[in-house]
Order: sequence, then structure tokens, then C-alpha cells
Amino acid sequence: MSSVTFTNVTKNYGSVQIIHEFNCKFNDKEFITLLGPSGCGKTTMLRMIAGFERPTTGKIMIDDAVVSGSDVFIPPNERNIGMVFQSYAVWPHMNVFDNAAYPLKIHGVKRDEIRRRVNEILDAVHLSEYSTRMPNELSGGQQQRVALARALVSSPKLLLLDEPLSNLDAKLRESMRFEIKDMQKKFGITVVYVTHDQTEAMAMSDKVIVFRNGIVQQTDTPMNIYRRPANEFVADFVGRINFLHGTAYDGRIEFAEGQSIKYSGDKRGDVTVGVRPENISMNEHDGVLKGIMSKSYYLGDVNDCRVNINGTLIRVIESGHTYGKISEGAEVYINFNEFMVF
Ligand SMILES: Nc1ncnc2c1ncn2[C@@H]1O[C@H](COP(=O)(O)OP(=O)(O)OP(=O)(O)O)[C@@H](O)[C@H]1O
Ligand SMILES: [Mg+2]
Repeated sequence: MSSVTFTNVTKNYGSVQIIHEFNCKFNDKEFITLLGPSGCGKTTMLRMIAGFERPTTGKIMIDDAVVSGSDVFIPPNERNIGMVFQSYAVWPHMNVFDNAAYPLKIHGVKRDEIRRRVNEILDAVHLSEYSTRMPNELSGGQQQRVALARALVSSPKLLLLDEPLSNLDAKLRESMRFEIKDMQKKFGITVVYVTHDQTEAMAMSDKVIVFRNGIVQQTDTPMNIYRRPANEFVADFVGRINFLHGTAYDGRIEFAEGQSIKYSGDKRGDVTVGVRPENISMNEHDGVLKGIMSKSYYLGDVNDCRVNINGTLIRVIESGHTYGKISEGAEVYINFNEFMVF
């Protein structure tokens, strides 16, 4: 079992507050992702959980034990946490197998058992055929996977991963996401995962926490973060979005030049409407808003368009096969299948 509970945790470096009052519980076996732009405090959060940093104020508990508090501080080696750092470090003088086996060796695990577990882990991270290679004979992505194998091999109950897939190519990154998720489920690990890649967060997490300048913007399921973002920052950070300014009345939102959409919410006056490009449909006959097809890009799987509505360019993403059906310069009508109002 491994839950992590934060009570009023803050972190300052000098006079700069990096993490503002953080209160949350990461439940046992949960996959939590800390998401946010560079410098927002994600690594700092992991370092506090691992015990490489002390919170300035507040308390961190792992299960029922206080690990950081005003008069308690348990050092990292006594916290039984697996961690893969953003700048993954593998032992340069050990081959891949020995790197992965290291945590088991220092715990005195028997040789046969080490062999079995290391082989299982190396297989999971697609490194079986590299087991005798030295780190300087590996690519950055391969070294990153050695670090991942080493963190997983001793089946920690709590695993901290700081952008562990950042050096992998797109295909491998995608397959490793599912591998990590599968391993987390299989071994029943609580994972705290750091990324600034929203697709990664979506694919793996039970709970996503979006940070901005050390302040939590939203804690929610991936679907709610995407479909019901708490504010414009979250909406914009997580996925693509168009923002249109309008005025909300009872029953509708009006845009410039009198175009309007139906609205059943309770906001009134100046509002910002957020609509994701894939939630807009387009045709040449009728719709709630009228514009001009300005540009259309064929990207294989999708048709990525810009529609000019009263001088505002709206991005519309349709399926690739629709490319060329509406020519550039043509009048086009759009409908919003789903939108949000801020
Ligand atoms: N030891 C330190 N002393 C002073 N400031 C620090 C220290 N470590 C981090 N910072 C600052 O704290 C802020 C948060 O850093 P952190 O590494 O947690 O960001 P991050 O969200 O992990 O960013 P990235 O996505 O770029 O890795 C940054 O402004 C950083 O410059
Ligand atoms: Mg970082």
C-alpha cells in the first residue's frame, strides 16, 4: 500500500515561492500526473516526495507515516520509493543487465531471482537484446529505459517518474506509455508522473493535476480536464482550442456582427467561448456561424482548416478524407458540437 498525503505544503527557494499551499491525497495504486509548463514546479514536487527537498512549510505523509513535517524528516533511502529522474542517470561502468539488477543486488536478492526479474523488466522496456551493452553504447532513449527498468525492478509501491519518455521517438513513446500503465496495474504501484505532454497525461492517468507557477489550477480526471477545464489556462494548455469573445444573454451567446449560438448556461455579459477544433463541424449549406474557408492542410489522418469568421481565424479539424471538399475561399458554415464558456 502507498498513498501520499500533502497538508498545506509550500516550497520556497530563497524569497521565491515555487509551490503554493498544496493539499491533496494521492490514493494507493492511483496513477497521478503532474502537468504544467516548464518551471511550474513539477520536479520540485517529486523531489519533496522523494525526500531530496524539504517543504518550507506543511506536511507530507506516505501511508500513515509522516515523512516530512516541522520536526520530522525521513531521508530518501528510507522512503522505499522508485524514481526516474528527468536527467536519467545510469551507472556508466555497468552493463544494462547489471544496472537493472543493482537495486536487487544491494538488497541481497538471490541470483536466480535477480535473473528472472531483470529479464522480465528488460523485456517490458524492450531492452532484452541489449543486456550486455554498456551505457555509452546506447542511445539516449535506451539509457532512459535502463533507468526505468532499474526503478521498476524492485517493485516499489510508490514510483516517481519525471518525464521518463522525453528522449524517445514518437512511436516508442506511445508504446512505452501503455507498457508503463500495464506495469503499474500489474504490480499495483502508485505512480506520480511528471510531464508537460498532455497526450501522455491523458493516456495514463487516473488523476491529473494541472499546475501554473506552483499553483494548482485543476485536479480532475483526464476527461474532465479536457472537456470541463476549470479556466482558460487549463483549456489552452490541454489540447488545442479556439477562443471567441462574445456576450451571453438568456438563451444565446452573441458574437460580432450579430451571429449567435444557443446557450443554456447561466453566465451573462462578456464571455469567452472555448471550442476545440475537433468539436466543430463544417458544411456549405447551413450552420450557426458563417465564414470563409481560409486555409486547409492535408495531414494524412486529419484535414486541418482555418475558417475566417468576421476576421477571427477559427481552427477546424476534420477527418482527412474531407480534404478538398470545400475549396479555399468558399463560404462555409460551422456548428459547434461541444463548447465551453468562461
Ligand atoms: N535548487 C533551486 N534553487 C533555486 N531555484 C530553483 C531550484 N530548483 C528549481 N528552482 C526553480 O523552481 C522553479 C520550478 O522548478 P522545477 O524544476 O520544479 O520546474 P518543472 O516544472 O519541473 O520544469 P521543467 O518542465 O522545465 O522540468 C523554477 O523556476 C526553477 O528555476
Ligand atoms: Mg522538471
